[in-house]
Amino acid sequence: MNYNMEKDDNITQAQKAASMETIETKKLVINIKDLRKSFGDNHVLNGFNLKLHEGENLVVMGKSGSGKSVMIKCLVGLMQADSGYIEVMGQEVNTLDQDHLDALRADIGFLFQGSALYDSMTVRENLEFPMRRHKEKLGNVVDTEPLVLEALENVGLGHTMDLMPAELSGGMKRRVALARTLILKPKVILYDEPTSGLDPITAKEIIELMRTIQRKYNTSSLIITHDVDCARVISERMILLVDGINYAEGTFAQLSASTDPKVEAFFKK
Ligand SMILES: Nc1ncnc2c1ncn2[C@@H]1O[C@H](COP(=O)(O)OP(=O)(O)OP(=O)(O)O)[C@@H](O)[C@H]1O
Ligand SMILES: [Mg+2]
Repeated sequence: MNYNMEKDDNITQAQKAASMETIETKKLVINIKDLRKSFGDNHVLNGFNLKLHEGENLVVMGKSGSGKSVMIKCLVGLMQADSGYIEVMGQEVNTLDQDHLDALRADIGFLFQGSALYDSMTVRENLEFPMRRHKEKLGNVVDTEPLVLEALENVGLGHTMDLMPAELSGGMKRRVALARTLILKPKVILYDEPTSGLDPITAKEIIELMRTIQRKYNTSSLIITHDVDCARVISERMILLVDGINYAEGTFAQLSASTDPKVEAFFKK
């Protein structure tokens, strides 16, 4: 059963109605219904639901192994779900052929868990890679340098263009990966653990960057994290993934005030 935050006493009925109305009128960017995925006896997703609205920052939290990466991979068609409905920007992902899926992916920025830079390519070549892959979106770009530079400057790393990934720190790699995600000017960005493995200060810088980017390009963001601080700062709404379902939904304040033991477990230091 979904633990709903509707009962929260701190919010008046009028406030609730008003906020529901603004959210209801916003366009849906992602709509996941009843998503199921098992690996043999390992039932990872058991009817997961998620709605991401235009311009929204939605955080999905779940403990390690709960299926967050599996969910996001199903979302972009990198993994086939057993059943369920997945719609991204008005298109049903499971019905798309490879060409249409590729076109859709050009509008989705995906920051993989870790940085996933190509170690044998320079920073510049790493950023050029998606541009070559999605040529049709950018039109005939003859000179890629201004775009590469703009994307790198967005993350404060304009000077690293000709370095190799091995010459960068963990935080810098994450920022280059973010720049690579931004180069196609995606409408929606999926972040899989954007701050994991980083020290708290670098993590804060990445979170600040994510906020800046969201404001600058009005992107919608789905952020997967188990970093409570990250969730507090960046989320407008949160979904807790427990037992393969969207167990609880609400704002950070609502969820962190919950007395449900499964919800409380997330916020205990
Ligand atoms: N390709 C696969 N084949 C078999 N099992 C898989 C595969 N991918 C994921 N799993 C299993 O699915 C479950 C969920 O994995 P997933 O990577 O989604 O976890 P997660 O919530 O992202 O965890 P973390 O926070 O550690 O990244 C795990 O039990 C994992 O072993
Ligand atoms: Mg994961």
